[in-house]
Amino acid sequence: MPESDAHFDWTPEMTVGEPTIDAQHQRLLAQLNRVIDSMIHGAASPEVAEAVKFFGDYANEHLAYEEAYMARRGYADIEEHKRWHQDFRDTYNLFKEKLESGTEPELILMQMEVYLGKWWTEHIQHEDHKYYEALGPATE
Ligand SMILES: [Fe+2]
Repeated sequence: MPESDAHFDWTPEMTVGEPTIDAQHQRLLAQLNRVIDSMIHGAASPEVAEAVKFFGDYANEHLAYEEAYMARRGYADIEEHKRWHQDFRDTYNLFKEKLESGTEPELILMQMEVYLGKWWTEHIQHEDHKYYEALGPATE
């Protein structure tokens, strides 16, 4: 499988003005690439399961950090933003359950990767960008 096809990279335009969150976004996209690469072991392999679980755990940690940041900065649209995050958690959990059920793992994994790639790149560039525009760079 060619490695270069569906990889995700963080670019400087994706900054949200807070170095820890930027680093987390970079790490998330790198971890998504790891999920994609782990498919070489087969969709039902322990490598895939481990990479998917790590992605989910790290994503949850990141979303909690980001929500605390928005709250600390008094971001006006925090509730709307938190609903986006909850949609992600719900959809991720659904995919993970389907994957663990063992039915058509290749198909589920492909759908999950498309969803994760699209959700995270769009979320960072649109929704996260909104709080950067509203709040400016972090001051501490
Ligand atoms: Fe966000």
